[in-house]
Amino acid sequence: MGKFLLGVIITVLILILAVLGFVALGFYPTRANLEPPQWERHFAMGAVDSSMERHAPRVTNPLTPTDENLEDGMKIYTMNCASCHGTLDRKFSAFGNSFYPPAPNFISDPPDDPEWHTFYTIRTGIRYTGMPAWDKTLSETDMWKVTLFLSHMDKLPPAVQDYWKANFNSVPVTPDEKKEGEEKHDHH
Ligand code: HEC
Repeated sequence: MGKFLLGVIITVLILILAVLGFVALGFYPTRANLEPPQWERHFAMGAVDSSMERHAPRVTNPLTPTDENLEDGMKIYTMNCASCHGTLDRKFSAFGNSFYPPAPNFISDPPDDPEWHTFYTIRTGIRYTGMPAWDKTLSETDMWKVTLFLSHMDKLPPAVQDYWKANFNSVPVTPDEKKEGEEKHDHH
C-alpha cells in the first residue's frame, strides 16, 4: 500500500513537472490572432456561466425603458462599447474580431441573457479576455442604462429608432435579425 501510494505521488509530480516544462519551454501558444478551438470555447464558456450562476446577484434593473434612458444607453454604448462590439452604423471593423476570444457583435447578435446577467458581466468584466470591468469607469446608473439598451435593442420605441436612424445613418436591429443571431449561438 505504501509503495502504491508513493507510485501515485511520483506519477502526479512527473505530470505537474511535464506541464510546467511545456509552458516554460514556450510550447504553450500565447498569440491572439487565431480562432479558439471548439473544445476550448466550450470549456471556457462553461466556466464563465458557472461562475456567473454562483456569484452574480439576481437584481432587477431599477430603470424603466423610457425613450430618454434608452437614448442615454445608446450613447454610452457608442462611446464605450461599440469599438469592440459593433458600431451602430453597421460598418465592419476588424478590431473586435482581433481578440482571443473575439468580442461578440451585438448589432448582428444582441445578448439574450437576463439583465442581471448582462449587468454583472459589464460591472465585473471577463477575466483572460478583452472584456474589461466597467465598475471604475461607469456609474451604476450608466451601467444599467447600457444594459437596458442591450436588452431592448430589437424592440426600441419609434422615437428611439428614429434617433438611431438619424444619428447613425443605418437601420435598428429587428426581432427577426435577433432570432437569426441566436440560432448561430453555440452556448445556449
Ligand atoms: C476592448 C474591447 C471591449 C470593449 C471596449 C467592451 N467589450 Fe464587452 N467583451 C469583449 C470581449 C472580447 C468579450 C468576449 C468574452 C468571452 O467570449 O468570454 C466581451 C463580452 C461581453 C459580454 C458577454 C457576451 C456574452 O454573449 O456572454 C457583454 C454583455 C459585454 N461584453 C458588454 C460590453 C459593454 C456593455 C461594453 C461597454 C460598456 C463592453 N462590453 C465593452 C470586449 C470588449
